[in-house]
Amino acid sequence: MGAHGKVARQLVPLLVAGGHEAVGVVRNPDHTADVAADGATPVVLDIESATSAELAEHVRGSDAVVFSAGAGGKGAPERKQHVDRDGAVKLAEAAEVSGVRRYLLVSSIGLQSVVDGATPDGVEEGFVAYLRAKLEAEDALRSRPSLDLTSLRPGHLLDEPATGRVALTRSTTDAVDGGVPRADVAAVLLALLEAPGTAGQTLELVSGDVPVEEAVAALA
Ligand SMILES: NC(=O)c1ccc[n+]([C@@H]2O[C@H](COP(=O)([O-])OP(=O)(O)OC[C@H]3O[C@@H](n4cnc5c(N)ncnc54)[C@H](OP(=O)(O)O)[C@@H]3O)[C@@H](O)[C@H]2O)c1
Repeated sequence: MGAHGKVARQLVPLLVAGGHEAVGVVRNPDHTADVAADGATPVVLDIESATSAELAEHVRGSDAVVFSAGAGGKGAPERKQHVDRDGAVKLAEAAEVSGVRRYLLVSSIGLQSVVDGATPDGVEEGFVAYLRAKLEAEDALRSRPSLDLTSLRPGHLLDEPATGRVALTRSTTDAVDGGVPRADVAAVLLALLEAPGTAGQTLELVSGDVPVEEAVAALA
């Protein structure tokens, strides 16, 4: 989900190179050619208006789903709830009725700051709404025992080449800060998909010095 996003566009070629088949959901029909060129079968569907049953038609038969969509700064502020939270939940419903257990959620660092309704000091209102939407998505997905969920909380996403090295840690109440190239996020997502032992975990990701495979294997 979110196949024309900057992270997803780096993930699909890695999936294909790893021998996987991918279906890429986009909302803009103009994006289908790029997604097909990346190697995925494109599906046009707007997660805000589609039903989970419609989504399920495209999820059925998959080994896993990856939610990497996001409202970003586009459109009305409520889109953070509608896309980042409700969209992630809709994909969970679709996975559930299709019997797909594995779910990777691209979440965000910084969620500790909004736990229990807290409002962090000096953070722009729209960003607080975004963090809350991500936290609510995580909570909603974690409450579904039918999912093998890994929630990946990357730091600030950077458009830089892959380094292949990261700091990947289980989330605690301590906040993690830092950035990470989108290319490294994609590599971690692929490694997590291939490491079912990471199900049930919430992980914080920033750049570091541990090779991606090693970092994921240490948590699996
Ligand atoms: N930016 C950061 O520093 C940061 C940090 C941590 C985590 N994250 C999260 O990381 C994830 C991936 O980031 P990214 O940089 O790859 O994001 P991105 O480039 O903004 O991609 C997000 C994708 O979601 C799609 N989308 C938006 N609304 C949709 C809808 N209603 N139905 C279907 N698709 C929809 C967008 O499509 P359109 O092009 O049609 O809008 C876009 O292709 C996001 O969940 C983001 O919140 C970001």
